[in-house]
Amino acid sequence: MKRAHWGSRVGFILAAAGSAIGLGNLWKFPYITGVNGGGLFVLIYLGCIFAVGVPILIAEMAIGQKSQANAIRAFEVLDKPKSPWQGIGLLGLLTAILILSFYSVVGGWILNFTVFSFTGAFDNLTTQNAGSLLEGVFSAPLTQSIYHFVFLSLTIGIVLSGVKGGLEKWNKILMPSLLIILVFLFLYSFSLKGSAKALSFLFSADASKLTASGVLEAVGHSFFTLSLGMGTMITYGSYLSKKENLIKTSLMIAFLDTSIALIAGVVIFSVVFSFGMEAQAGPGLIFATLPTLFHQIPGGTFIGILFFLLISFAAITSAVSMLEVMVAFISEKFKISRFKATSLAGFATYILGLLTVISTNIGKNSFQILGTTNFFDLFDKLTSSYFLPLGGIMISLFFGWKMSDSIKNNILKAYPKWMVQLFLVSVRFIAPIAVLIVIYNESFL
Ligand code: PHE
Repeated sequence: MKRAHWGSRVGFILAAAGSAIGLGNLWKFPYITGVNGGGLFVLIYLGCIFAVGVPILIAEMAIGQKSQANAIRAFEVLDKPKSPWQGIGLLGLLTAILILSFYSVVGGWILNFTVFSFTGAFDNLTTQNAGSLLEGVFSAPLTQSIYHFVFLSLTIGIVLSGVKGGLEKWNKILMPSLLIILVFLFLYSFSLKGSAKALSFLFSADASKLTASGVLEAVGHSFFTLSLGMGTMITYGSYLSKKENLIKTSLMIAFLDTSIALIAGVVIFSVVFSFGMEAQAGPGLIFATLPTLFHQIPGGTFIGILFFLLISFAAITSAVSMLEVMVAFISEKFKISRFKATSLAGFATYILGLLTVISTNIGKNSFQILGTTNFFDLFDKLTSSYFLPLGGIMISLFFGWKMSDSIKNNILKAYPKWMVQLFLVSVRFIAPIAVLIVIYNESFL
């Protein structure tokens, strides 16, 4: 069977950027920054993106592009049949289904809020009851599971219609639109009285608020936000033909992804500090702050509708890339159609997602594992803080030590020698050791 390829160079870049930019930037980054006290957390996150994330991003894309195979078979193609390195891909598969299961529930909340923005539900909000809408969502498991279903169905629809046709076209219009609105909100946020406080919260380091587990969360989030460590970028790289400047592409994606997270952070925390809201609100943070902002802004209803629609889209393009990891593997391994593979993976993800749905209501305090008390937190912690970083280390080691010099030279040939050296030192030593130290610290000390 001939494998599909991207329609154009821009198509690939947008798809990879579309995978990276999602709820990780707009929902998760602001809330975990708030929980971990701002400044120093942001600094560690930024350091990780460029010292660890970018090299691994290049490595993943190169592994996919060279092997032209799914995230598991890639290691057989590049190493040998039955290679133990395939374990990386298997862990990736498990991670993909776990993340997608809760990601699509949160995506469902966003869809629900998109509907709220249409129906005028934000109109009666005051600063005091800004959290009430989400609390309403949390206490309605049935509604949540319906939105979870809709979100996943849209994702499945796009994966089925082929990444090349549908996704490439929509990406070209909607990603730039998201950026434009975000920049507008960013500029607007400077007119709010809390903006100076927001900037100092985000950019001045305060060590007193950061814990070891916060450091691990920063490292883990640098993987999460760049879609690293579970084979997404291997899979997307495998639909890429030979010639592509991976280093430039990766730097561009990391830069875009990081800018969007930081801009979102400034907007959200300006609202937080202007209206005396709670920075440590947790996963509900953007659901309380954004409606408050749209309530204030001239033309806010319209902007609110547009913005929630665009966040939904950004979330779907990320979800697509997770589902694609599973579909590429299942359809190629078991030689079944993409339709069957997608339905199967989609169904399993839906069922697993119900555990997240109950985590905000009846199953909120079900157990005590790894400092979490429900499935939503557990899946998030397991994947972001452990599985993605572990997957990333192994990918980095595989690329640094197992891939032949001719492959590496081929990818790196256009670059000055010092840059190549730096890159190799990073994938061989810096990235794996740094991540191991952090995991060790949090787990055993
Ligand atoms: N990077 C995506 C985001 O920030 C999430 C994601 C993680 C996508 C892992 C694919 C793989 O929302």
